Amino acid sequence: MNTDCIQKAPASIAAELLVVFAVNKADKKDSVAAPVIELLHGDGAVKSAVAAITRAGEFAAASCETLLIHNPAGLAAKRLLVVGLAKATANELRKAAGVGIRFAKPRKIREVVLLLPDAPEFDSKMAGRAIAEGALLGNFDSDSYKSDPVDRSVAAATLITGSDGASDAAKAGWLEGIAVAEAQNFARTLVNEPGNKLTPTILGERAAAMAKSAGLQCEVYSSEKLHALKMGAFWSVTQGSVEPPALIVLTYQPENWKPGGPVLGLVGKGITFDSGGLSLKPADSMEKMKYDMAGAAAMLGAMQAVAALKPDVKVISVICSAENMPSGTAQKPGDVQIAMSGKTIEVLNTDAEGRLVLADGLTYAKQLGATHLVDAATLTGAVGIALGTVNGGAFANDDETYSKFVKGLEISGEKFWRLPLEDDYKDQIKSSIADIMNVGKTRYGGAINGAMFLKEFAEETPWIHLDIAAVAWSDEQKAWLASGPTGVAVRSILEWVRSYSG
Ligand code: BES
Ligand code: ZN
Ligand code: ZN
Repeated sequence: MNTDCIQKAPASIAAELLVVFAVNKADKKDSVAAPVIELLHGDGAVKSAVAAITRAGEFAAASCETLLIHNPAGLAAKRLLVVGLAKATANELRKAAGVGIRFAKPRKIREVVLLLPDAPEFDSKMAGRAIAEGALLGNFDSDSYKSDPVDRSVAAATLITGSDGASDAAKAGWLEGIAVAEAQNFARTLVNEPGNKLTPTILGERAAAMAKSAGLQCEVYSSEKLHALKMGAFWSVTQGSVEPPALIVLTYQPENWKPGGPVLGLVGKGITFDSGGLSLKPADSMEKMKYDMAGAAAMLGAMQAVAALKPDVKVISVICSAENMPSGTAQKPGDVQIAMSGKTIEVLNTDAEGRLVLADGLTYAKQLGATHLVDAATLTGAVGIALGTVNGGAFANDDETYSKFVKGLEISGEKFWRLPLEDDYKDQIKSSIADIMNVGKTRYGGAINGAMFLKEFAEETPWIHLDIAAVAWSDEQKAWLASGPTGVAVRSILEWVRSYSG
């Protein structure tokens, strides 16, 4: 999508579709009160084009509600779309911009012009960023393998800023939002790929190509390196597949970097297909397991955003990618594996493979110098039982590190809920013949058991674990976002990284 940000009087814009934003300021407690529509733009021409219709009371400016006006009086635009926001916040604005784009897509409107709100509730930079993110994320659809050549994407999005001093800030936000959304869409594109089109080797190639164009250092290793590093846990997952594994290492080092400060380690689960291995999954919904590399994709997206926004902190990403398959060479339930850290693991269920690859990924990130760790993984179905599909699961062994992550959520607008990680849960993963086992003794607290396992490998290093199994893929489409891969965690990890900058 082409993007632009210009300063122009709204009345003179001869756009196919001009998108403006509104909130309902009526007293919410008063259920019979008529809507009080407040346009978030002070421009007189736009206001009067909308006034007569909003006065009729049919449009309540509820969150994501739309009102279309053809040939609006006094405006050069062909159509004017008013999109409602529940509140005047950046998160609502991001959604509303997405609604504007997704309104245009099926109507074959190829150019959308969005008006920057000038209401006092909005910081111009934040508003510019939110609109860019909403527009680019809204333009994504997961139909890349359809042979129908009709391109249903919006070709151009333009942000119009007012003529005051806020326009430089808005433009900076707009450019930042584009970089962030492109990174998130890169993650979504990877997650969308089927297992036959995205093997670990191909994921490595995609990562290397992204790194090259973003200016990141990238190494992609395979079986030999796993053996050399004695990554017995990672190897145990890949040993059953004919597809070789990929150990992907990306490095972002700021200019003038000096050793001594924090080094952030981003570790991603990259299972390009999870059949369960010999503990085979049921056929029903097994196809979903192509997205078992969404943690890896989130880290690759975050690294692309880091490379674009250049925070003043060193970041390393370690991606552990493999296929989990049943075969004559596959690991068997009951096998004992020796992880890179030396810990021994009794594998009771070969379907709990994510924690095995991450165990060695966390150890390796530390060996490469990471002082703070975050991992993202579609680790457990149980996290969805605990939290549903609204919040991702978050775990941390260090409150200070986690508080930085929580602050970032305010900017990213993503939802994560912290779950416990106390030593009282450790009994669940005690094995009788090895140091630990890869599943809990009971099915209760499955997401916690997975996190407790990983904690054994983070050891004393401050670490956050994000279980995104129930939020990385959305079966339902939203008015502002297509169904399919969400690209969740890219924005939150980026903000966490930035919290260590400067
Ligand atoms: N990849 C799955 C988890 C998953 C489930 C991701 C649903 C996305 C949607 C993971 O490898 C897995 O199979 N976990 C098991 C763990 C169990 C055997 C302890 C699970 O959740 O059932
Ligand atoms: Zn599994
Ligand atoms: Zn898995």
